[in-house]
Amino acid sequence: MTITFIGHGYVGLVTAAVFADLGNTVYCVGRNPEKINNLKKGLTPFFEPGLEELVKKNLEQKRLIFTLDYQEAIPEADVVFICVGTPSLPSGEADLSAVFKASEEIAKNLKGYTVVACKSTVPVGTNRRVAKILEKGKKKDVKFDIASCPEFLKEGTALHDTQNPDRIVAGADSVKALDVLEELHKPINSIFLRTTIETAEMIKYGANTLLAAKISFANSMSFLCDIVGADIEQVMEGIGLDNRIGKQFLAAGVGYGGSCFPKDVKALVAMTKRYKTPGMLFEAVEEVNQIAHEHFFQKVKKYFHNDLKGKKITLWGLAFKPDTDDMRDAPSLPIIKSLLNEGAKVVAYDPKAVENAKKSLGEKYAIEYTPDAYSACAGTDALLIVTEWNEFKQADLEKVKKQLKKPVIFDGRNIYEAKKVKELGFEYYGTGK
Ligand code: UDX
Repeated sequence: MTITFIGHGYVGLVTAAVFADLGNTVYCVGRNPEKINNLKKGLTPFFEPGLEELVKKNLEQKRLIFTLDYQEAIPEADVVFICVGTPSLPSGEADLSAVFKASEEIAKNLKGYTVVACKSTVPVGTNRRVAKILEKGKKKDVKFDIASCPEFLKEGTALHDTQNPDRIVAGADSVKALDVLEELHKPINSIFLRTTIETAEMIKYGANTLLAAKISFANSMSFLCDIVGADIEQVMEGIGLDNRIGKQFLAAGVGYGGSCFPKDVKALVAMTKRYKTPGMLFEAVEEVNQIAHEHFFQKVKKYFHNDLKGKKITLWGLAFKPDTDDMRDAPSLPIIKSLLNEGAKVVAYDPKAVENAKKSLGEKYAIEYTPDAYSACAGTDALLIVTEWNEFKQADLEKVKKQLKKPVIFDGRNIYEAKKVKELGFEYYGTGK
């Protein structure tokens, strides 16, 4: 088939590369000439393991075509996927302007029968608005169907998730559109769930908010564990072994971040306000998440007798999770800001996210960055683990101890075993331990 992706963010670019690799002819449309030029050379705008290699391979095979031009990418397409960003507005609602702008451009260029499927996370009702825009802007005799086809990939494992999804959800009124989408997904061995547009839209928000709720639940439990002497990891293991609950997404830490959970929980809360339904459960998920990084910071502050002035603090990890350079809503940001606001100095190391961290923090929150994990500990008063990159898990802690002014670790991701670290002579503060 010929498929077009509008947008080359995590969803658009990863899915485009995967479908090209399956033998389809794939167009990927962007708006930024510099990014499109780089993509034509096989340079991706963000770090995702394995992605650049897959993009390069499919560029060479001429199955993947990057363009700024809707006129080139739409007329031949059997399926057009809308994969543009839907960031939060100040109200918490999703900003749908990019979705609607893309729809206008698609409408002008539709030729034969085309399925226009939205992968962007959008509130219920959005796809019907897309249909109206397409209907209004298209040439008279052109036929199309719309569908909602939400994406569930995770950053850091995006290729694997796209090639091996737990399910593919497709919502449409038209059986023909669902047949086309099912045919396209055939080489991907998974459950293909056919449903309505509204249901598909709700599934995406529901899935993300329930996963975020699991994390906020674990974090709420960990606040208690910190005080009562229970071990959060074993508590959540004991809970997660119940098949009805499941073991995943129960790791307590410094809170969730990224491009989806924070924005999607807020958007679901906004939907409950709009339709006047009780949204307190969803609101609590978000509130607990804010408390999670604040709780971690307060633990550090308390250790220094509420006086962080002049203290030098090392942060290991800046990205919102390992294996990505993404800093969107990363818990490291409020932690760094709180430390700086209290007069501490921050030295940070992250294997991939430094450039994006500089942009996110701006000049007001300037910190020192080091090229490796150990030099970040030179002469500092404490080590804070904020992102659980693999290279931290078996780091040479003897070497770390020699570098630190005082051997104390605050482990926001519970990557170390308390007993072992203490035996090495560290003071160790885990999360919910
Ligand atoms: C998420 C969803 O998992 C994915 O299905 C959706 O398509 C996009 O949003 P992503 O944000 O890329 O994916 O990463 P994910 O692995 O879900 O982690 C999100 C955040 O939750 C990270 O900050 C991570 O550190 C945190 N997290 C995750 C926890 O704090 N504890 C956990 O147990 C799991």
